[in-house]
Amino acid sequence: MNDRHVVWHHATVTRARRETMNGHRAGVVWFTGLSGAGKSTLAHAVEEALHQAGCRTFVFDGDNVRHGLCADLGFSIEDRTENIRRIGEMTKLFTEAGVIALTAFISPLRGDRDRVRKLVGADFVEVYVKCPLAVCEARDVKGMYAKARQGLIKEFTGISSPYEEPDAPELVVDTSATELDESVRQVVELLRGRGLVP
Ligand code: PPS
Repeated sequence: MNDRHVVWHHATVTRARRETMNGHRAGVVWFTGLSGAGKSTLAHAVEEALHQAGCRTFVFDGDNVRHGLCADLGFSIEDRTENIRRIGEMTKLFTEAGVIALTAFISPLRGDRDRVRKLVGADFVEVYVKCPLAVCEARDVKGMYAKARQGLIKEFTGISSPYEEPDAPELVVDTSATELDESVRQVVELLRGRGLVP
């Protein structure tokens, strides 16, 4: 799209200046995992801990974003890729704004997640919210697995659409075997080690 005569405008209030004012680095904490694995619960609990520590944060949640920014997208592979591309671009903007963006999307495809990692750069942290499909299905918080098994929901992740586990996430949290408090502690510790949390 180089023929559109669009020129990048450089701000004088930079990310670095915002980070200095905030007292912490900006970054993206990307939670990925099956529906019902606990991504949203963990992302919001980590946000609470970071907020209490004085950090500027924002959670992007799959269900919420699909009501607005991505309301035009469904669950085909193409639409999921576009969903993650848009969220990736949004989180990149949030890092420019000096914020720690936390995301809770299934983001089932390795290639899509890796593209965001490349876009964001060094301050991208991938957390695999691991939970066996059988446990997610037994939880069935929204009743969607039952509907997917009956064929009432098409292309449902783990049932009739793929989920590709991360190859080298910065952290794996097994929510079927770990208490929420302990999972939060592990994520916050990781972020502290990377200078994202004071
Ligand atoms: S994706 O794959 O990253 O684009 O999906 P995401 O934006 O995170 O949206 C997942 C939530 O949408 C609901 N839902 C479905 N999930 C998977 N497959 C199908 N077909 C589907 N249809 C609706 C579901 O509530 C997911 O929420 P979570 O929080 O993951 O349970």
